[in-house]
Amino acid sequence: MKISIFGLGYVGVVSAACLARDGHDVLGVDTNTTKVAMINDGLSPIVEPGLSDLIADGRRNQRLAATADAASAIDGAQVSFVCIQTPSAANGSLDLRFVVRVAEEIGTALREKSDFHVVVFRSTMLPTTMEHMVMPMLEARSGKKAGVDFGVAYHPEFLREGTAIKDYSQPPRTVIGATDERSAELVASLYAGIDAPLVKCSVRTAELVKYADNAFHALKVAFGNEIGAICRSTEVDSQELMRIFCLDTKLNLSPTYLKPGYAFGGSCLPKDLRALTYLARSLDIQAPVLEAALSSNAVHKQRALSLVTAHGKKTIGILGLSFKDGTDDLRESPTVELVEQLVGKGYKVRIYDPNVTLTQLMGENKAYIDRELPHIASLLVDDLGHLLANSEIVVAATKSRQYAEAVKQLRPDQILIDLVRVCEDRNAFGDRYHALVG
Ligand SMILES: NC(=O)c1ccc[n+]([C@@H]2O[C@H](COP(=O)([O-])OP(=O)(O)OC[C@H]3O[C@@H](n4cnc5c(N)ncnc54)[C@H](O)[C@@H]3O)[C@@H](O)[C@H]2O)c1
Repeated sequence: MKISIFGLGYVGVVSAACLARDGHDVLGVDTNTTKVAMINDGLSPIVEPGLSDLIADGRRNQRLAATADAASAIDGAQVSFVCIQTPSAANGSLDLRFVVRVAEEIGTALREKSDFHVVVFRSTMLPTTMEHMVMPMLEARSGKKAGVDFGVAYHPEFLREGTAIKDYSQPPRTVIGATDERSAELVASLYAGIDAPLVKCSVRTAELVKYADNAFHALKVAFGNEIGAICRSTEVDSQELMRIFCLDTKLNLSPTYLKPGYAFGGSCLPKDLRALTYLARSLDIQAPVLEAALSSNAVHKQRALSLVTAHGKKTIGILGLSFKDGTDDLRESPTVELVEQLVGKGYKVRIYDPNVTLTQLMGENKAYIDRELPHIASLLVDDLGHLLANSEIVVAATKSRQYAEAVKQLRPDQILIDLVRVCEDRNAFGDRYHALVG
């Protein structure tokens, strides 16, 4: 394929060299004429293991060249990758000046082109940047319609400097968010020889994936370092501890706990986080990430309360009281707190939870609920149908198949607040459906 690559920095030059290696005709474009000259001289403008050889090979077999002329790079290619910088502005926001300039240049060049061309952005940009800024600019300058007259895709890059060529060839997955199937297929075909899951998704999902990745990576480093600092003060070998930690691929390094929904609770997570952060404080160790998990959870619980109270309706039916389905453990259940606040504000609350039988609660669990919700007996009901029929708002607070079926019976005048993604078809409820997460 004939490919042009805008931006010959750490991402662009690696993509250019690897695509040339894989047999494509690649033309790099950069406003920096020194970089352009270096590529044309067969030299790498950056330090990256293995890259100099790939660039020299690309020049030798005439698969790789560079230019400063954007128009010719659009005209002579079927697809263009955009890998220009998206730095931070002084206030932390994203500085999109370079993106604006390149979109204007590419849009102007597209006006002159009759063949179908696909513009693929790889620069890291916040969700909706493509739809609200880049695509309108390309359309305005070209006088053509994105997704119809030319294709647009957002295709995040996952390489790491220092191992970039290996990462290019063995990515964790390939993510393509395109305006149309033809463009998605064309980008996907570039990776035919690469063994990695291929994901086609919306443009804005592809944009946000990259931020979720990097936020999680940063969180992992900060978490590991805080645990390491606690290890130092308690004379524990942090490397051994984290090696043991990483052996748990069921709960620790796994999709578990990574399904956005409601707040955490139960008898362990809040208690143990409090104890660990107390230990850190008593050792004079600052652990803001560990501390923040509890405050983040409190904010999420507050969001749930606001979601319920936003509608001016007073009769609330709650599905599930324990902290998760399949248990009668009420200790630190976020729903117990929610009910307590609603009752305190004068709402008429009814709760259905077949796992919770008051006469069978005992020990700490019973003491907790007697303390937090002494009037619970008057709120719990056995008849799910009656609760559904007589609630203006129904709140699904634990995930169960029974509740998924039950909410299907709701009338058009009733509101569903789904805290745990119990509902499979959210669209069926239209604007009566509300959730804490997207
Ligand atoms: N560096 C990484 O490891 C990495 C990994 C994944 C994603 N990213 C993202 O990829 C993007 C590029 O990062 P980078 O580190 O390669 O940037 P970089 O600063 O190394 O390179 C950007 C290049 O774009 C050129 N450029 C700017 N405007 C141009 C224009 N109008 N036409 C042609 N060239 C132009 C610049 O001269 C520069 O050479 C950023 O959004 C970054 O966040 C970077």
